[in-house]
Amino acid sequence: MSGKISTVKLKEMKHRKEKITVLTCYDYSMAKILDSAGIEVLLVGDSLGNVMLGYDSTIPVTMDDMITYTKAVSRGTKNALVVGDMPFLSYHISTAESVKNAGRFLQEAGANAVKLEGGREVTSTIQAINAAGIPVMGHLGLTPQSVNKLGGFKVQGKDEAAARLILNDALALQDAGVFAVVLECVPAPLAKLISERLEIPTIGIGAGVNCDGQVLVIHDILGLYSDLAPKFAKRYASLHEAIEEALAGYKADVKSGAFPAPEHSFGLDEKEISKLY
Ligand code: KIV
Repeated sequence: MSGKISTVKLKEMKHRKEKITVLTCYDYSMAKILDSAGIEVLLVGDSLGNVMLGYDSTIPVTMDDMITYTKAVSRGTKNALVVGDMPFLSYHISTAESVKNAGRFLQEAGANAVKLEGGREVTSTIQAINAAGIPVMGHLGLTPQSVNKLGGFKVQGKDEAAARLILNDALALQDAGVFAVVLECVPAPLAKLISERLEIPTIGIGAGVNCDGQVLVIHDILGLYSDLAPKFAKRYASLHEAIEEALAGYKADVKSGAFPAPEHSFGLDEKEISKLY
């Protein structure tokens, strides 16, 4: 698919059963790589709290943090849909503040849409943000901003009652107008049922193969972050090791004088330098 990805295009992809690829992204250089690789959605996730800022949860992440990183990603993106993740407490205080914060992602940071976590309790907020012309992506199952309420990073929806709540929340989010919903750490059969029931795309992370698309944290697939190794993340590269090797080479070259070589240096006419002696 070529050209700018829109929320409408994502729905069309679901209907023709073309899987949607989503990755998190936090900076300009990586955005250029992901965009030219044809990844359809770049999510500036509040997971940047873990992988970029070194916090042990997403709770300390602020609106200003999110705007800074989203600006960088937008500047590096031509075709992908850029989604800014609304951080903890940025959509809970009041509807007016939620709309204003969502608007900052588009107006200041160049994003195309926002994502927020939660089910029926956030549908009126979603409607208000949508009414301002801002597309919203939902997020159900393991919602990391509620980790203290959920009692840890655990699979959600494991019995009939819990699974029904997630299914009903997904339907409520669709009715409220979200263009897609992330399903995080829910059993694969439940994600399959939700994907069949919804008209809008489901984007899975630890939710099995039957979602309409998949999302992973870029640091996990590239092997750049070793504090956690979630079961659902597949590693496609070992950049941590590759970077260590490059750094060892740099250090050895500097220590030995092999770097910088003449081709990395700037010359000066012999006559000019001799005048300084
Ligand atoms: O913050 C994030 O990166 C996310 C994805 C993992 C879905 O919300």
